[in-house]
Amino acid sequence: MSEHKHYAGMTRFLHWTVAVMVLATIPIGVIMLQEGLARSTQNLLFILHKNGGVILLLLVVLRILWRLATPAPALPAHLPLWQKRAAKATQISLYALLLIMAISGYIRVRAGGFPIEMLDAFGVPGFVPRSDALAETAKTIHAYARFPLAALIALHIVAGLKHLLAKDGVFQHIWPPMGR
Ligand code: HEM
Repeated sequence: MSEHKHYAGMTRFLHWTVAVMVLATIPIGVIMLQEGLARSTQNLLFILHKNGGVILLLLVVLRILWRLATPAPALPAHLPLWQKRAAKATQISLYALLLIMAISGYIRVRAGGFPIEMLDAFGVPGFVPRSDALAETAKTIHAYARFPLAALIALHIVAGLKHLLAKDGVFQHIWPPMGR
């Protein structure tokens, strides 16, 4: 049994902040592309999605660094090996897919020559050349990567709820979102 009962406070805080933001960013991304939306509503959703997505990118990078730098609580010894491996594989794939989503979204917008209001206000350069072909590739990646991301999020939530109901202490590794 590990002496660490929880993930570090910062890791837990970032986990729940990223969770809430991702669960908002996906439906906003889908809704903003629907036909028949009022122009002003669509603009607002795009602004929320693009700028929220950039904040998510920064938080996910920070999260990965924080997670690597701080110790993780061990899973209970009685948990079958396949479950431990599945948990690890799901978590790594979630990090990877969040990075792929956020980076492809960023490239799609920058290569397409569109604004990212928050970054533009601070004069942050685009880093990506203007290119319709690149924008189109990034758009395709962004559109397809959401399916495995949504599937893994669903799996991750079901597994988390299973641990919560089983009261085996695993859910408490990542809960509460703040504090020691
Ligand atoms: C983890 C972060 C992100 C998630 C989970 C996410 C999710 C999504 C989803 C589900 C869609 C709808 C895709 C479709 O129906 O084809 C979408 C579209 C879009 N997203 Fe994101 N997104 C993220 C980050 C970003 C970022 C950082 C930007 C730009 C700065 C961005 C820009 C866009 C744009 C422009 C579209 C419309 C694509 C098109 O032209 O069809 N996204 N996003």
